[in-house]
Amino acid sequence: MAARRISSLLSRSFSSLPAPLFSRGTNPTLVRQISRYSTAVEVEEPISPPVKVNYTQLLIDGKFVDSASGKTFPTLDPRTGDVIAHVAEGDVEDINRAVSAARKAFDEGPWPRMTAYERSNILLRFADLIEKHNDELAALETWDNGKPYEQAAKIEVPMLARLMRYYAGWADKIHGLIVPADGPHHVQTLHEPIGVAGQIIPWNFPLLMFAWKVGPALACGNTIVLKSAEQTPLSAIYAAKLLYEAGLPEGVINVISGFGATAGAALASHMEVDKLAFTGSTDTGKIILQLAAKSNLKPVTLELGGKSPFIVCEDADVDKAAEMAHFALFFNQGQCCCAGSRTFVHEKVYDEFIEKAKALAKNRAVGDPFKSGIEQGPQIDKKQFDKILGYIRSGIECGATLETGGERFGDKGYYIQPTVFTNVKDDALIAKEEIFGPVQTILKYKNLDEVIQRSNASRYGLAAGVFTQNIDTANTLTRALRVGSVFINCFDVFDAAIPFGGYKMSGQGREKGIYSLSNYLQVKAVVTPLKNPAWL
Ligand code: NAI
Ligand code: MG
Repeated sequence: MAARRISSLLSRSFSSLPAPLFSRGTNPTLVRQISRYSTAVEVEEPISPPVKVNYTQLLIDGKFVDSASGKTFPTLDPRTGDVIAHVAEGDVEDINRAVSAARKAFDEGPWPRMTAYERSNILLRFADLIEKHNDELAALETWDNGKPYEQAAKIEVPMLARLMRYYAGWADKIHGLIVPADGPHHVQTLHEPIGVAGQIIPWNFPLLMFAWKVGPALACGNTIVLKSAEQTPLSAIYAAKLLYEAGLPEGVINVISGFGATAGAALASHMEVDKLAFTGSTDTGKIILQLAAKSNLKPVTLELGGKSPFIVCEDADVDKAAEMAHFALFFNQGQCCCAGSRTFVHEKVYDEFIEKAKALAKNRAVGDPFKSGIEQGPQIDKKQFDKILGYIRSGIECGATLETGGERFGDKGYYIQPTVFTNVKDDALIAKEEIFGPVQTILKYKNLDEVIQRSNASRYGLAAGVFTQNIDTANTLTRALRVGSVFINCFDVFDAAIPFGGYKMSGQGREKGIYSLSNYLQVKAVVTPLKNPAWL
């Protein structure tokens, strides 16, 4: 039931557009309260977040502790750039302490030795606690990240609980096989936890990335050292604290806030870490692989960048296609690894599509993410804000047509106007590189072969959207596109059971679903001679 609700929220099934979460102009009273970016004069005073920051330390061996150096760093409110709180800054020594705790919890503690049913029950209790603290978790996420509170409260935090229940369901169904062999041998495989899992997560969906990594690691009986993103350290510490409240034994999850080049690199290089999972940029992914190779050859899974095509075919219902393409790009301030960031539109519907895409962008509700009805908050930080504005300038300079937007929104914080470019050429930077912001890039195409070739001419291969009413076109595109996810007449459907990951430089391995379990298991073959067997 919950899964259905979440997926319909995310997939924007048109029969049930959730109001006010993704609605545009459907609720007249709401529309009057909020500023469309094109008419708003200034951003109002920030709303006071309805939550207190209680946890700012590192979580090692089940206890809150300061960093070994005593250092802290500020986490900022993207609405203003003001400091929310000072958080412990983990570094090499803290990673060492956390890995020792995780190692001990794995080698000597009760976690890998308890029954899978007991582990499952702890995950279920954690899911209950997430639901109990839904609004605090959502408020922390919005404050630290800038995403609309309604989306955090109605999608992300419920999905965190859903993912934990999904993995609780797997915990007691993980087992090996009896394998028929040629000779007189009994052969079985044991699926064992891999050991200490290092996990490095980004800032765009802090709680979901926590769930995608922590869920399968715990279901398989591993222990964890997780490094949160320096932009958004608050929600992971809170969630891990709830895990202990749910009965997790000491040391099973350790959370270190800190920076990539210090704490992150120490985790990736650690000799006692048995597996590493990373989500973030392709450039950092390459560094992580090198660190793993130079240390102990730990296996690595990577969820990296994307430049996903969203293909609008000639038979598409243009209203619906424009809405879905808008959602595919602008959701989460455009800060999605799988954002539909190359909108390919067939020449027959191109002009009509552009008018609709432009109108949708102009009508997008931008403003304080704590305000009801807001669809787009600020970008995460000044670095991303400047980078996005740089891409916008490069789009203008290379001759693409700026249809709407193109500038900052308001004069405080990191808000950017929803921006639409048309007449974009394939070799433009805005058509090749990950912008990670509210900038839609529209390209024209003539036929299927051409759009397949152009879609695949990217170093990325994370996802694709296909908008058509023709089943044959859908099937042709589905098989031709070299990407890890194809969304047909929908986008960003992220149920717990659906695997996610990339081809090419978008990553290695799959998260979520049954496929994620193999990232956290070793397979041991056990062979015993069979004496006088009745059969082989
Ligand atoms: P990043 O990849 O540098 O950071 C992601 C995580 O990796 C953070 O926890 C960071 O502390 C850690 N990290 C950074 N350098 C590290 C190192 N040398 N060793 C170990 N860990 C390290 O990404 P950043 O700088 O936040 O954003 C840059 C770009 O990356 C964005 O503009 C966007 O294009 C992309 N990105 C993609 C994401 C995705 O979901 N695939 C998420 C975040 C960013
Ligand atoms: Mg922050």
